[in-house]
Amino acid sequence: MDVQQTRYSAQEISALARQIDRPIVLVGMMGVGKSSVGKRLASILDCPFVDADDEIERSAQMPIPEIFETYGEDYFRDGERRVIARLMAENEGCIVIATGGGAFVNAQTRALILEKAVTIWLDSDVDTLVERTARKDNRPLLQNGDPREILTRLRETRQPFYAQAPIHIVSGQGPHVQTINKVLQELTQWL
Ligand code: S3P
Repeated sequence: MDVQQTRYSAQEISALARQIDRPIVLVGMMGVGKSSVGKRLASILDCPFVDADDEIERSAQMPIPEIFETYGEDYFRDGERRVIARLMAENEGCIVIATGGGAFVNAQTRALILEKAVTIWLDSDVDTLVERTARKDNRPLLQNGDPREILTRLRETRQPFYAQAPIHIVSGQGPHVQTINKVLQELTQWL
């Protein structure tokens, strides 16, 4: 996606990008589109993009389902906390970071992100999450039970944490450019 597809001019986008002096961190449920929106946002702002889940897989040298299967969720959460702390310590300027759906639930991780980054909560209704997560089978938390029930429960229990993000964006079933436009608008107001 390039700047032309957004509601903003190239000048407006580069003025916005110049003002961004800290990481932009996307939080929210699995399937909400943090990685797809994050990649496009980074490319529009001409900032690097990092997916925290990819970084965890790189450090552990194994895919997330295998980490869960071999070592369990607590081990994964520990790695997730350490990887995000490293990403926060290493990056001060503009970078877009997509986090895994459970990362922001951890008090330490949440405090660090809220302190050092501008945090955007991407939110969708359960139908959208069910539809989007069904496209891949790489999410261990959805393997044991009915995905709709699991997503409904997790969305409810995580909501109070996600709601601490200063920016809340509802991402519907429409094209990602609609979400990007909302993100750009919120960032402009936030800065
Ligand atoms: C998880 C979300 C996943 C991944 C792991 C656990 C969660 O990331 O970190 O499977 O607890 O919600 P996405 O949100 O990118 O799917």
